[in-house]
Amino acid sequence: MEAALRRLAAGNWKMNGLRADGVALARALATRAAAAPPPCELLICPPATLLMAVAEAIAGSGIELGGQDCHTSDKGAHTGDISAAMLRDSGCRYVILGHSERRTDHHESDALVREKAKAAHAAGLTAIVCIGETLAERQAGQTLAIVSRQLGGSLPEGLDSSTVCIAYEPVWAIGTGRTPTIAEVAAVHGHIRQALAARIADPGNVRILYGGSVKPDNAAALMAAGDVDGALIGGASLAAADFWAIAEACR
Ligand code: PGA
Repeated sequence: MEAALRRLAAGNWKMNGLRADGVALARALATRAAAAPPPCELLICPPATLLMAVAEAIAGSGIELGGQDCHTSDKGAHTGDISAAMLRDSGCRYVILGHSERRTDHHESDALVREKAKAAHAAGLTAIVCIGETLAERQAGQTLAIVSRQLGGSLPEGLDSSTVCIAYEPVWAIGTGRTPTIAEVAAVHGHIRQALAARIADPGNVRILYGGSVKPDNAAALMAAGDVDGALIGGASLAAADFWAIAEACR
């Protein structure tokens, strides 16, 4: 099925950017968005330290702001954590949850991601829930089973297409320059769409993003795979020209 939804190009800056370069990057994107209507919906997810400054830099540009993680509670004694309500208060509309780097570095489970997604929903944020198999799981033929399990475990009840996106990010494709074939992407995205039917009221309207080494030179091919409604972009989102070129491919 071809994507009928307006696609989303989401930049995940990860732990990159000091104030000067983060604001310069955000301003460069805002300038482009002001010069011509953006080719798709644009989202940038800077580190938490830059949220307020980036919010100011993109104000009025139509570019959306997102966080990279949130806590399950809306406030309290959780040193070092940030709540969904705080993200919303900083100008965010989205939050990335369950990224494989969080799952690995911070031992985040599907159950925890599910609780975070509930908190995001309660705060009025759209959760971008990340799922994807490791190389060993793919080689063992477990890809579809893994993404089914992650989806089932990570998504709370009661979400709809306005409150959740899925990002399929094969762990072995993140930051490696390797990507699945177009047929492999289409197969997983189609499977995710079907699996969503059991959990979400309007599965056809949920954006399913592909992430993992999306670059200007492979983005159009990846977007042409069935059921790909945008991209979650790491490394290439740190250069305005590259991010914009990928957004063009998301048109
Ligand atoms: P990458 O990262 O584009 O650098 O592979 C994608 C991601 O982790 O979201």
